Amino acid sequence: MKFIICFIVTFLSVFNGGTSEFDPNAVSHTTKAELLSMIEEEKEVLVYFYTNFEDCLQCKEKMPQFHETAVYLEKLEEGKVKSYKLAIKFPEYGVNSFPQLIFFHGKIPFRYDKPDEFTPDNILDWVEEAKQTPLPELSDETFEHLTQASTGATTGDWLIMFANGQRPECMKPNLPDLATTAARLRRRKNVAIVNTSVCPVIGKRFEIHPQNHCVKLLFFHRTEMYHYDKTDRSSAALLKYVLQDYSKDEVLKIPPPLDHKNAELESMIAALKAHFLEHANMSQLTFFSGVGFGLLGVFAALLFILRRYRKKKLL
Ligand SMILES: *[C@@H]1O[C@H](CO)[C@@H](O)[C@H](O)[C@H]1NC(C)=O
Repeated sequence: MKFIICFIVTFLSVFNGGTSEFDPNAVSHTTKAELLSMIEEEKEVLVYFYTNFEDCLQCKEKMPQFHETAVYLEKLEEGKVKSYKLAIKFPEYGVNSFPQLIFFHGKIPFRYDKPDEFTPDNILDWVEEAKQTPLPELSDETFEHLTQASTGATTGDWLIMFANGQRPECMKPNLPDLATTAARLRRRKNVAIVNTSVCPVIGKRFEIHPQNHCVKLLFFHRTEMYHYDKTDRSSAALLKYVLQDYSKDEVLKIPPPLDHKNAELESMIAALKAHFLEHANMSQLTFFSGVGFGLLGVFAALLFILRRYRKKKLL
């Protein structure tokens, strides 16, 4: 009896392995709403984005490989990483074509970058690498301390994406490629992000407009700075740049860090000014904007006095 079961199992597995058929229900589908809530809950999920096979031959060809990967991953991670399929685009995270494979590690998405090597081994290696790759978010307080940008980069080279986190088209769609770049550079170079909508000091230092700006990629190599200004922000392009092409680019000087308090005050004044100007444009309340400018004048005068006072105290 045992022998017969063994035989049947062996026969079935040989049979399955011998054909390109696969169980279409082996990995379940998810929905966009479910995926968004899984990201919010910082789950670990691998998602295969595809569309109907008539329109996308690649989607059909890669599906069995994805299924096989999902089965291995389930075992390897003891169920911690779940795999799903999703048959719609996800432009929020830069998924605008099919097929795409994205690994969400908490809030950080990674895009699989080797479509020509779409095998379980390669994909699992990449997932394991991604799981150990942080994508730190730098702030006005931590930027200089962590990067040491102005002192000759004792912490190594940094690729930093400055993106406006308040505009949905700027930060999140670029994360999957940046994160995979970070994974491929792990232990060699640092990769980080700055949410410019909450970092006025960094913005001022690197000449980034707080509202109009979208994305800016800078590469810090020793005491030099390079601006990656190409529209191709795929991880392949970013890797190539950071590993060699930057050297053909113009060397920029790293702007020195700003005095934190001064920069904060200046950005406050700029915000106030913008606020009053907006009022003046939008309504006929010229009286109030007059008062506004008056207040601004008083504020500026106070600031001036305060600074002189501070300087005197220092002398
Ligand atoms: C960036 O900061 C803004 C303002 O606090 C916030 O609304 C947004 O969610 C942040 N974006 C990211 C991607 O962290």
